[in-house]
Amino acid sequence: MLNYDNPKLVIETAKLEPGSITWRSPSNLAIIKYWGKYGLQLPKNPSISFTLENAFTQTTLEYAPKVNLEQGIELEFFFHDEPNEAFQKKTTGFLERLSGIFPFLRQLKLTIRTQNSFPHSAGIASSASGMSALALCLCSLEDELFSSLNEDEAFDQKASFVARLGSGSACRSIFGTLAIWGESSDVEGSSNLFAIPYDEQIHDNFKSFHDDILIVSTGEKGVSSTAGHALMEENPFAQPRYLQARQRFSLLLTALQKGDLDAFGKVTENEALTLHALMMASNPSYILMRPNTLKLIELIRAYRRESKQPVYFSLDAGPNLHVLYPEGVIHEVRPFIESELVPFCEESLWLPDWIGEGPVQI
Ligand code: PMV
Repeated sequence: MLNYDNPKLVIETAKLEPGSITWRSPSNLAIIKYWGKYGLQLPKNPSISFTLENAFTQTTLEYAPKVNLEQGIELEFFFHDEPNEAFQKKTTGFLERLSGIFPFLRQLKLTIRTQNSFPHSAGIASSASGMSALALCLCSLEDELFSSLNEDEAFDQKASFVARLGSGSACRSIFGTLAIWGESSDVEGSSNLFAIPYDEQIHDNFKSFHDDILIVSTGEKGVSSTAGHALMEENPFAQPRYLQARQRFSLLLTALQKGDLDAFGKVTENEALTLHALMMASNPSYILMRPNTLKLIELIRAYRRESKQPVYFSLDAGPNLHVLYPEGVIHEVRPFIESELVPFCEESLWLPDWIGEGPVQI
């Protein structure tokens, strides 16, 4: 079993110059959804996602030697330039939990400055981009202090492992284009512990896909993803769901390799609706879609029927809609989105996005 705990990663603080590290890391959209977990953020089924480009978090980690070495993690946290107590507490707890992996964190005074590319509380999930950006900063800091992660593959794997501990889906954001997380006999090297990139076998149809995000509601979600995963434990449909996810995962890989848009669309939309059906079948049950989510789904399906254009929708654990289509049809589809769909968004809010190349160090 992979174990990153390493008590040797301690520094001589007297010799340390203060410094900073910045990473920009994107959000991702799961096509086959991860919903249900066990142990330490381990997935019940394999998932596969598109890495986005425009929806990202940029995080700077500043470090300096600590004066009082007795204390645990010493952290200041700024979100969009404002001190943020809730994030400070949550992140301090997370870094405490990581102190077996990165013991040097307790020797440093840390400041995190982070911001999202999308409007604050736009209702776009930021845990994947936020946790992956932080994990990348931590791995870069380790490498800077100990030159221990200079091979790209080892660096990415550790960053993905650490991001997973913060938020499961964040482990997929470390890689551009498409990423797979969760053991599957279909994909060599796949693991429950970290994600792996999956771009070489993808048909060109899927390499320049659009994923526009329509904001139906900017409101806080009534039930968090953490609570949602927990509800899967008693969900009577959980076991058939995990089986279904594995079957669909195989089916989707074939569609991605062949460039089969129709098969891709069927699986993608059904996955989105299955995720929400599982929420509705939980005890207590809950609904995260809003009336306009359904309206938009109907409009997209009607447009597809009439125009025969390959346009599909997906949903995350929230009311906002992702509109997916290949680059080749943008001139027909964009005007439809702007004139027919955007009026159903909250304050006409939407974010054009597409498959991206993954995180960048700034
Ligand atoms: O990473 P979490 O714990 O926020 O779970 C996210 C789960 C979904 O976004 C609904 C699906 C997925 O695979 O990203």
